[in-house]
Amino acid sequence: MAAVSLDDPTTFAALDSRDMLGMAEGFPDQCRQGLKLADEAQIGDSYRIEYDGIVGLGMGGSAIGGDLLAAIYSGELSVPATTVRDYALPSWVGERTLVFAVSYSGNTEETLAAFDEARRRGARVIGVTSGGELARICGENGLPCVVVPGGRPPRASTGYLLMSLVAVVERLGLIGGQAAARRECLEVLDAQAAEYGRHSPADANRAKQVAGLLHDKVPVIYASTPILGAVAYRWRTQFNENAKVLAMSHELPELDHNEIVGWELGRNLLGPRCVIVLTDPGMSDRARRRLEITQDLLGSGVEVHREAARGDSALARILSAMYLGDCASLYLALLNGVDPLAIRPIEELKKRLAQG
Ligand code: F6R
Repeated sequence: MAAVSLDDPTTFAALDSRDMLGMAEGFPDQCRQGLKLADEAQIGDSYRIEYDGIVGLGMGGSAIGGDLLAAIYSGELSVPATTVRDYALPSWVGERTLVFAVSYSGNTEETLAAFDEARRRGARVIGVTSGGELARICGENGLPCVVVPGGRPPRASTGYLLMSLVAVVERLGLIGGQAAARRECLEVLDAQAAEYGRHSPADANRAKQVAGLLHDKVPVIYASTPILGAVAYRWRTQFNENAKVLAMSHELPELDHNEIVGWELGRNLLGPRCVIVLTDPGMSDRARRRLEITQDLLGSGVEVHREAARGDSALARILSAMYLGDCASLYLALLNGVDPLAIRPIEELKKRLAQG
């Protein structure tokens, strides 16, 4: 196959059948819209209670918003926030738990089963969806639901889904006012959108450069601190679904207690690979020192690049780190000669399960 140029506009037209790159270029506006939709959603006074926890139900592209929410506000929330990717709920979920049922299609069976169970336990439930069964059940039972625009792949709807969660937890007083963080985050994302877009040439476009670094290699994405762990996982899943490659992800300090040993023999088994370390400007001196030593122990034969999150607020840092990976995964799809939209095995699996 002829080498693909990421600076040639015909590349996108030929492979990117639903213009997923265009969706990524519009990510900051999608975040703005997500905030607005959730600000406008009807949430009754019965939701203004003292909660014992926050749970995000969801799978795949709809689940990541719950992970990101928990990471962004880990230093601020006074109750635990967690994501459930399963049919079943943990036993502690009950009447004083705020449960977001997030399914972009509204039809994912694991999410619907857990949502059903949350309702039976009397949890305060809120749907976040573009339609389907979830919207129908919320509508018929008078349950609050943030209805986001449909017609996109779920993983290209994270701006709607995550920002809906952010706006609701803010409205319910579970976190403080987010005006400054929202503003900063959107400014950072706007600047990135200009840098990462298709018209920004590769020599000035870090997303195109990262895709080039990872082409024909196994991407290994390491978060330098746990707060970026969900972002590293998001990079991995975006490389899976968009670029159709296997990828690895892990986070410090945990990887220093297991995965670092796997490099001893794993470096030969893995074939060509490239490590991307997501760094956080808010890292402590101890975390910086740990990263230095970890990188040193990986050895000089391992290609490592560091990508720094941008901004001050956790919202900006986490979303900026994610946005680079989202765009890089789309450019990697093009370098791999595949349509980022296609997710045949996922569709086939859902089809076969639906047949019983
Ligand atoms: C597709 C994608 C998948 C779906 C998952 C759940 O873009 O990212 O991971 O998100 O199969 O489906 P939904 O989001 O419709 O509940």
